[in-house]
Amino acid sequence: MTTYDIALVPGDGVGGEVVAAGREVLDAVARTSDADIGFAWTTYDWGSGYFAEHGRMMPEDGLDLLAPHDAIYFGAVGSAQVPDHVSLWGLRLRICQGLDQWANVRPVRFLPNVPTPLRTTGADLDWVVVRENSEGEYAGLGGRNLSGRGPGNEVAVQTSLFTEKGCERIMRYAFELARTRPRRRLTSVTKSNAQQYGMVLWDEVFTRLRADYPDVETDSCLVDAMAARFVLRPASLDVIVASNLNADILSDLGSAMAGSLGLAASANLDPERRHPSMFEPVHGSAPDIAGLGVANPVGAIESGALMLEHLGQDADAARLRRAVDAAAAAGVLTPDLGGTASTADVVRAVLDHL
Ligand SMILES: NC(=O)c1ccc[n+]([C@@H]2O[C@H](COP(=O)([O-])OP(=O)(O)OC[C@H]3O[C@@H](n4cnc5c(N)ncnc54)[C@H](O)[C@@H]3O)[C@@H](O)[C@H]2O)c1
Repeated sequence: MTTYDIALVPGDGVGGEVVAAGREVLDAVARTSDADIGFAWTTYDWGSGYFAEHGRMMPEDGLDLLAPHDAIYFGAVGSAQVPDHVSLWGLRLRICQGLDQWANVRPVRFLPNVPTPLRTTGADLDWVVVRENSEGEYAGLGGRNLSGRGPGNEVAVQTSLFTEKGCERIMRYAFELARTRPRRRLTSVTKSNAQQYGMVLWDEVFTRLRADYPDVETDSCLVDAMAARFVLRPASLDVIVASNLNADILSDLGSAMAGSLGLAASANLDPERRHPSMFEPVHGSAPDIAGLGVANPVGAIESGALMLEHLGQDADAARLRRAVDAAAAAGVLTPDLGGTASTADVVRAVLDHL
């Protein structure tokens, strides 16, 4: 039997509810798998509660504690008790950047029976947003300066960092991914008309790499036009590669097009496998619905499917996705999708269809 050693970081708000749901489903996948697999879970209670006691979101040696695990299964972070930039940088971004999980893969899947705001049915739509996850607009560079200016005159600088190596590795990842898909199509998202340094470098790297992938159809699109294209010409998209901020925004847009932010799954990958990769729903801690038992667990469950693929269990990942589709097709939908099901109802329906 192969037992995977998983670090579980529920975090804040609905994070705990959706990772508990995902864990229950993943344990059931393991029990019913032909591959003889199991999960050993180690829970780390890091987040805003930990901050209240210790003044930090995770222990100083937190990354060392995570390093030996096969993967990390993460909920969400964010609460009214800790400023958002402190909680995000102190936990999620610390893990992603500290473990160099430089590729954030965010598939957008349209489920049967789930209404979408798009004019088309969504039936043929299947996108993957590949997000640069180590630099760009979230490089954490900058500062604030009050000195000598007095109240009302503070200045802040937030600098984006684009390196040729950083652009190249995420784009090669996206090209390779596009190659594995039937349409073999890759769109690069840019803003080089206004951001004449970083984004021009981004474009130049994309143009250079195209020559190495003649079998992949490519185009480049300004981010503002891309937002409109997601809505008006969704069928023109397949794999999308974008910088940290642009992909963050577009993938939320994409998941809303699929019906709800609660559906979106993501993988924060270290493709070189030097460190554990982290799997998490795209959504945040959703304080408005936390504790009500109605959080949509599909984003977390589908993040579990991405984790299974990363661990080499593709057949079980496909089986899990079929069970999620069947539960949706049967009309077991949480309120964000217009249904009345609870988180637990969705878990039961997925377990029934596994
Ligand atoms: N990866 C992360 O940990 C992450 C990501 C985004 C936001 N955040 C944090 O989360 C907190 C709340 O941020 P926000 O409100 O902007 O974003 P959010 O994703 O938490 O919520 C946005 C909206 O989507 C809904 N929603 C989110 N997840 C859902 C689910 N599983 N089922 C049903 N509905 C769901 C919420 O109810 C809310 O109406 C903030 O502190 C923010 O910093 C964390």
